[in-house]
Amino acid sequence: MKRNLLSAAFIVLATIIFSCNDKHITVSGLKDAFAGDFLIGTAVDAPQILGIDREAKPFIIKHFNAITAENAMKWESIHPGPDKYNFALADSIVSFALANDMFITGHTLVWHSQTPDWVFQDSIGNPLTREALLERMKNHIFTVMGHYKGKVQSWDVVNEAIGDDGQIRKSKWYNIIGDDYIEKAFEFAHEADPDAELYYNDYNNEEPLKRAGVINIVRNLRNKGLRIDGVGIQGHWHLDSPDFKIVDEGISEYAALGVKVMITEMEINVLPTPSWLYGADISRIAEYKDSLNPYVSELPDSVQTLLTNRYARLFGLLLSNKDKVSRVTFWGVHDGYSWKNNWPIPGRTNYPLLFDRNYQPKPAYYAVIEEALKLK
Ligand code: G3I
Repeated sequence: MKRNLLSAAFIVLATIIFSCNDKHITVSGLKDAFAGDFLIGTAVDAPQILGIDREAKPFIIKHFNAITAENAMKWESIHPGPDKYNFALADSIVSFALANDMFITGHTLVWHSQTPDWVFQDSIGNPLTREALLERMKNHIFTVMGHYKGKVQSWDVVNEAIGDDGQIRKSKWYNIIGDDYIEKAFEFAHEADPDAELYYNDYNNEEPLKRAGVINIVRNLRNKGLRIDGVGIQGHWHLDSPDFKIVDEGISEYAALGVKVMITEMEINVLPTPSWLYGADISRIAEYKDSLNPYVSELPDSVQTLLTNRYARLFGLLLSNKDKVSRVTFWGVHDGYSWKNNWPIPGRTNYPLLFDRNYQPKPAYYAVIEEALKLK
């Protein structure tokens, strides 16, 4: 396939014509290339939504038709104190998304992380009883989902409840409520908004052990007659991991349960990273060293090529599963906004997404579009 770029200056804002098998296909943004395949989403936060970065909104509208709040709907952000809710930023994200016909996923209702300590304690700091914590969980879910009823179409109800060993994570939710806390969260979420799609979301859950744990959750919910619509595979991936065969198997096994599969937080890390820091366990962190931050001024062509080829293969695989995959969301709008610049090692310069720090499409952008157009 040959690309006809209208002009370098036009790359971001203009339409691009791709020539493929003698067909000329007009693509004005990433989402257009995947129309009819799956939704293409991004995660957003204050800089993109509050006008701090003025290029962000038109760019997001052009390329994405699905949106997730990167941080604004997490418990600590939206419900920072027992009687204090802070909807301002999340409301702005939802208004922007609704005005531009984007599919919204609320992220996230019940998570062990970014949930303040007071949630698990009474007014004098003693641990809550099971009943009191269930009541607090229910109030939170009803208040947040109630606020967005009819606006936010889908929710990550429970996030990261399974460990890499496939066992349920021994979080405060689990320790106080017991292993039915996941069922309760889904039950409350369905009561709060019967029309919303409800998802379980995790990282590394393409891997067989963890996958088995997540499959148990889905089966258990279904056996109890509870609603679950989808499983999110976060997709915090690397140049050398995971093996895409595993991703393929994961997608097929989840889909065989009758749920939608989504890649919900995708990026591909290009920096040297010890494998014990793969995934997204944000309680782990390593010290900064210059040797672990090798591409401060630019990404060398050789690594750019590895990234491009990996994205192309990945999208080839996702497209071959387009009957099972409903959405692919990138975790950030461009490289400069990626959390991978600061985790698992703070202060690095990473290049994990399809757009560079100046909103210019990288070779991987054209490669994934080519994958999509091969099938059109
Ligand atoms: O907003 C405060 C700011 O006021 C303060 O000055 C600054 C100082 O550190 O921190 C800011 O908060 C940071 C927040 O991101 C917003 O930028 C937090 O420190 C930082 O821990 C937080 O990181 C987020 C992380 O989740 C923890 O919530 C990342 O942006 C976000 O990308 C990441 O997303 C998670 C998904 O929700 C779940 N799956 C894993 C994924 C990656 O960890």
